[in-house]
Amino acid sequence: MAQRDAPPEVQARAQELRDQLHYHNYRYYVLDDPVISDQEFDRLLQELSKLEAAYPGLVTPDSPTQRVGAAPLDKFDTAPHRVPMLSLENAFSDGEAREFEDRLKRFLRIMEETFDYVVEPKMDGVAVELVYEQGRLLVGSTRGDGYRGENVTQNLKTIHTIPLALLSRDLPAPDLLEVRGEVYMDLGDFKKLNDERLARGEPAFANPRNAAAGSLRQLDPAITAARPLKIFCYGIGLVEGRSFATHWDVLQALKTWGLRINPLIDRRRGIEEAIRYHRDLEHQRHGLPYEIDGVVIKVNDLALQERLGAKARSPRWALAYKFAATQATTRVKDIMVNVGRTGAVTPMAVMEPVQVGGVTVSRATLHNEDEVARKDVRVGDTVLIQRAGDVIPEVVKVIVEDRPAGAQPFQMPRACPVCGTPLVRPPGEAVTRCPNPDCRGSLRRAILHFAGKSAMDIDGLGEKIIDQLMDQGLVEGIADLYRLTEADLTLLERFAEKSAGNLIDSIEKSKKPSLARFIYALGIRYVGEATAQLLAQHFHAFEALRTAGEDELLTIEGIGPQVAKGIRDFFDSARNQELLDNLLMVISIKPPAKPAVSPLAGKTFVFTGGLSRLSREEAKAQVTARGGKVSSSVSAKTDYVVAGADPGSKYAKARDLGVTILDEDAFEELLNKV
Ligand code: IVH
Repeated sequence: MAQRDAPPEVQARAQELRDQLHYHNYRYYVLDDPVISDQEFDRLLQELSKLEAAYPGLVTPDSPTQRVGAAPLDKFDTAPHRVPMLSLENAFSDGEAREFEDRLKRFLRIMEETFDYVVEPKMDGVAVELVYEQGRLLVGSTRGDGYRGENVTQNLKTIHTIPLALLSRDLPAPDLLEVRGEVYMDLGDFKKLNDERLARGEPAFANPRNAAAGSLRQLDPAITAARPLKIFCYGIGLVEGRSFATHWDVLQALKTWGLRINPLIDRRRGIEEAIRYHRDLEHQRHGLPYEIDGVVIKVNDLALQERLGAKARSPRWALAYKFAATQATTRVKDIMVNVGRTGAVTPMAVMEPVQVGGVTVSRATLHNEDEVARKDVRVGDTVLIQRAGDVIPEVVKVIVEDRPAGAQPFQMPRACPVCGTPLVRPPGEAVTRCPNPDCRGSLRRAILHFAGKSAMDIDGLGEKIIDQLMDQGLVEGIADLYRLTEADLTLLERFAEKSAGNLIDSIEKSKKPSLARFIYALGIRYVGEATAQLLAQHFHAFEALRTAGEDELLTIEGIGPQVAKGIRDFFDSARNQELLDNLLMVISIKPPAKPAVSPLAGKTFVFTGGLSRLSREEAKAQVTARGGKVSSSVSAKTDYVVAGADPGSKYAKARDLGVTILDEDAFEELLNKV
């Protein structure tokens, strides 16, 4: 079909929509301060998609519709950096930081004066370069060897905090801009991602940096798109059509162009002030949602930077002042086991309290029986432990040379430390469990999880109160929470009337959860927050999830066999049935907001034959991204068969059954209807 050019008013409207969408994307993802609702945003995006579908010539590479959906690559091209991406010289002590300033003075022959510095958190992620020409993102690449990296443009485009086009409302965008920044993953997102990977039987990433690097180096951008990556920009390589006096000015300009700058970046006069910033940030470090491994101190004056220049691998005008390692050694006093909400029994090292990265720790998880055996941790051992962000510290290794004579290998207890029931460990599983559904250890954890902030959010229902409620026999199951009265609570030790009233209020308030929260609150094995969201989006109604078979669960992108089985097992248990019946008598789940509906939502597709413009993987991803399902065989339940070149027997079967058959063009047209 010949392509028609869009009439001028349509072209103008498309441009206007693109500008608005870029701006609102920036408000939402970069400033975290949206000025329109999600629905309005979706409406604008839909309007643009429709125009682009009608006039494909309107699609520009920087169109907000182009964030996802690029085809997988065979390999990455190399991308040269016009200005090399250098690394930084490290310092590990205040003394070394002072030497840095002394070197600056000697080099510049400035003896009395001191310097203005820009001080920045040193992000622990992956360095990237973004090249904007005439304000549009053209190429994005990794650092590589500093001179040439990998062209990962289509992956970077999936990151919402990376603008596809620079904003030029307040400051015209330069002709050429090479921006540098760090792509990273928030700790919370990292943990969620790992939980989901483990649930699917995939290996966990060792740390957020590896997760970010691995996600960025995917040949299929659909995978990168599903990973929660973010960026902070911290400098430029080259800029044409604009000049700056200071690094601080550069950062301010980047901000006005819509690039995301870490709000903790600041200015300090003199090295002592910069050292103080380092100390302050080291204290704040573990409260941050992402990992940083130090502070970067940069000479602010660009003329001075120019004069200072660079050594072989690092500029003379910057220093990475690293934080002390978050590892420490201590002694294991005991190895205890904890009973989790699903009955999982986890060994835990109880240690002499030790400072690690600014906090005192006295416990470290040992994960499971095999892990204890692999690391051979014994009571009395000296161990190296580490903290990764805010997660529970873990034992890295035993210092075997320091092992006291007679230290015995750890043995998993045979019986549950809470209820005494013999523990079980199914063949092929790493986890040991207490099989007693009435185990108070599991119940206690289950209630704690149910009441948690991301679950039913029952404010004020903490461990101590749960223990008291259970001890008094007031709560023997989750549903009992909703039978509590103020009078019951005032019977508890140290429970004032006011706090009793508050707790009853928060229990009352929790009666109208969203579907996703409710699902998450149930504590179904392998169902974390993200999976609960997926389930809520797919099923809309709780009953539909409750009765869904494993087959249906498996059609949901992101849910594998293990998770599907976990869900089915949960709903098949008679005691859970009873719990749900009781809960649903008092709880009314808020129906989920209807997402922008694509005509593909809920429809089942079968592919046969080769498509010329899309890989099979991409075509499938496009369908599932719009809420559709892909099946491998044609049946009366099939809504569409997409037939490419040389279709197989599925084509004939579809025809016999009267299933709608789409050719590639018709399929793409359908996809474009949002
Ligand atoms: S400036 C020439 N600033 O650290 C100066 N780097 O060891 C180049 N990094 O590859 C880097 N946060 O990935 C700079 N605020 C920051 C940074 C930062 C993290 C990383 C960057 C670089 C590495 C250098």
